[in-house]
Amino acid sequence: MKVAVLGSGAREHALAHAIEKSPKCEKVYAIPGNPGMSIMKIECVSDISANDFECIKSFCREKNIDFLIVGPEAPLVQGIADIFEGENTFVIGPNARAARLEASKSFTKFFLTKYQIPTASYKVFHKTEIQEALEHIKTHTLPVVLKADGLAAGKGVIIAQTRSDAKEALLSMMQQDKFGKAGHTVVIEEFMQGIELSTFVLCDGKHYAILPEAKDYKRIGEKDKGLNTGGMGAISPVPFANEAFMKKVETEIVQPTIQGLIQEGIEYVGVLFIGLMNVNGRPKVVEFNCRFGDPEAQVILQRIENDWIEIFEHIRKQNLHECRIKIKKVHAVSIVLASQGYPEQFETGKIITDYPSTEEYVVYHAGTKWQDGQLVSAGGRVMSIVAQADSLSEAKSKALKGAARVQFENKYYRKDIGFEFN
Ligand code: AMP
Ligand code: GLY
Repeated sequence: MKVAVLGSGAREHALAHAIEKSPKCEKVYAIPGNPGMSIMKIECVSDISANDFECIKSFCREKNIDFLIVGPEAPLVQGIADIFEGENTFVIGPNARAARLEASKSFTKFFLTKYQIPTASYKVFHKTEIQEALEHIKTHTLPVVLKADGLAAGKGVIIAQTRSDAKEALLSMMQQDKFGKAGHTVVIEEFMQGIELSTFVLCDGKHYAILPEAKDYKRIGEKDKGLNTGGMGAISPVPFANEAFMKKVETEIVQPTIQGLIQEGIEYVGVLFIGLMNVNGRPKVVEFNCRFGDPEAQVILQRIENDWIEIFEHIRKQNLHECRIKIKKVHAVSIVLASQGYPEQFETGKIITDYPSTEEYVVYHAGTKWQDGQLVSAGGRVMSIVAQADSLSEAKSKALKGAARVQFENKYYRKDIGFEFN
């Protein structure tokens, strides 16, 4: 079988790596892929952009691709799965209607409320209701959470500690177009106090299979200080997500979500990423995403023993309930190496050395490129170092070894991934 992976980050690198291990896999094409990916059965198709859907479709026809798995949300939200309807290539990823679970926070809140799935209480305001929104803020408990309705590159959520900060955030979205149209509708919601957790559910439109959970470290600074990033590291399993907690996640969140989707006539195919808050032992939904997380994918893929092409076949045949996910009892840790300045303006073009994977850790590329025969940095998140072991601390020390060994000028990484569980 031939598989195409759409995207160029460390998440897609890890996915291609996992798929390539399937004995059924003849070839994996990474569109456009990254410099770390061109090994074994993986081939990068770097001249096709991830946004050129017609070109991707022609390529998949020409190469007889069986499955196309889409890494990032943007192509899904823009309808790549819809464009492949009727094609021989089966897309692992939801259509645009289903991807609204990530693309519209107001739609998600409406859905969660309708199906009585635990989440923060909220109200939605449109640009035409600024006065009402300001009045609402005046009496809201603090902190208060404001969310731009649409996609805002992970920056559309503001946790305001004071009413004046909340007012300023609201006006920046609704009047000053901070996130363009994405901020013309704003969700104002209750702040949930707790620890976050990422859960991943495979869906075939009718059935689901739960994958291992992960915890993502989103802040740039150690001990979760500083600006939000795409994710600076991840761990799996998550120590507090014991069997009893995960049972609650399944019965109180996953099952009603899948039922609700079916009832709405939404055929959700692919990965559903559920961002959860553990509020005093009760899981509540923070958000949905329509794809794997990055760097969460890097750790959960380490723990799944199944043949990925078999999983894709179950999804295509809509018999995912017959697929048993085999989870390795190991701890996996990923540490992201970032460029100086990230998540704001960052440096690029730094020569990278000592980056090969070793027996102790795997190196997945993200923002790298070839320049004059040398590997150089080309993004905010440059690489992910991933390791596994019998304990979290052992996995972490292996990953830290890799993080220290890879060299580029002004390399930055968090040394405290998993710190709460030491
Ligand atoms: P999102 O873009 O929806 O993932 O939100 C970004 C981050 O904001 C989440 O990962 C949480 O850390 C935080 N967040 C969002 N909504 C809430 C909430 N209602 N209460 C507390 N934290 C939240
Ligand atoms: N690591 C969070 C995300 O992929 O959205």
